[in-house]
Amino acid sequence: FMADKGNFRHFMAKEIHEQPEVVGRTLAHYVNFSAGRVELPFALPFDFKDLKRISISACGTAYLAGLISKYWFERLARIPVEIDVASEFRYREAPLEPGSLALFVSQSGETADTLASLRYASAEKQHTLSVVNVPTSTMARESNVIAQTLAGVEVGVASTKAFTCQLTVLLTLAIAAGRARGTLSAEAEKELVDALIGVPGLLSEAMKREHQIEILSRELSKAQDVLYLGRGTSYPLALEGALKLKEISYIHAEGYAAGELKHGPIALIDETMPVIVIAPHDHIFEKTVSNMQEVAARGGRIVLITDEKGALETGLDTMATIVMPSAHPIIAPILHAVPIQLLAYHTAVFMGKDVDQPRNLAKSVTVE
Ligand code: G6P
Repeated sequence: FMADKGNFRHFMAKEIHEQPEVVGRTLAHYVNFSAGRVELPFALPFDFKDLKRISISACGTAYLAGLISKYWFERLARIPVEIDVASEFRYREAPLEPGSLALFVSQSGETADTLASLRYASAEKQHTLSVVNVPTSTMARESNVIAQTLAGVEVGVASTKAFTCQLTVLLTLAIAAGRARGTLSAEAEKELVDALIGVPGLLSEAMKREHQIEILSRELSKAQDVLYLGRGTSYPLALEGALKLKEISYIHAEGYAAGELKHGPIALIDETMPVIVIAPHDHIFEKTVSNMQEVAARGGRIVLITDEKGALETGLDTMATIVMPSAHPIIAPILHAVPIQLLAYHTAVFMGKDVDQPRNLAKSVTVE
């Protein structure tokens, strides 16, 4: 197929910068802008109202998009969500009530474990809905409903634009579910849809932090280990930040729920291990701030990714503070994905690594 890097050094850079455009395109497919409503571009063979549970399975970055959506489905639509990596889900013989919803997330639509999970769910009489980027894929063919992401071809092995498009689609699904279940009023929906409409512009704004992040990445490249922390929807983002960094720079990185700091990783804190904290100013911001204080008190060096309000309120000395534009807390994870992608990218490039083709990894894992 034809794909070129345009003016970028790597596909990954090009794909990071395409996000305002492809998220906008995806959004236009799922949202009626003038009505301020989500309008799904497909009919559902079930009613969200009747669901007792959603089971999500996926792998890698797609799994982390799914994990963020668990917070959205539970908060906006009050549906219990269980989520697992597909390699576990496919073998653990999870009891599934017939007529429930099994949801899959995959860029390629060909990942062996996710496909096997989809087949298990079909056999267990679940409604199957797959968020996929490749509409001709095996998973798209075998699912009851395809929710397509319009990210375009993604070449970089480390997923970037597919991830933010998956988040966009999953959030519209959670909003549609909230409306159907009566947990989201028309005004609340309009507020969320307005926030969503602002996302492409905010993503462009977020890209303007690139120069600061590039400079910071020189520091990060000296680290042997990096810890990422976050709460709520920033927790899966912490996992995603660590995943991205280890995949392309080969620096060991771990993501942790900030509240788990005390239960292990705090033992590792010293001045040599940067701690990257993702903390937009949301309802649990204060909780994350106290975790940062615990890190600072032990000589840990913090990179804080927050928004304008958060930056004003922490009052902590950090190695760097990356200030994202302020946004509705629900859409914050879509926005905050950008600095963690850029940080991993620039660190790996500075270290001379092949970011588009990292060692031992494949774009699509079609064998077990
Ligand atoms: C591989 C890729 C990741 C991707 C994962 C799931 O590990 O390197 O970037 O997130 O597979 O792929 P999928 O196509 O199912 O989203």
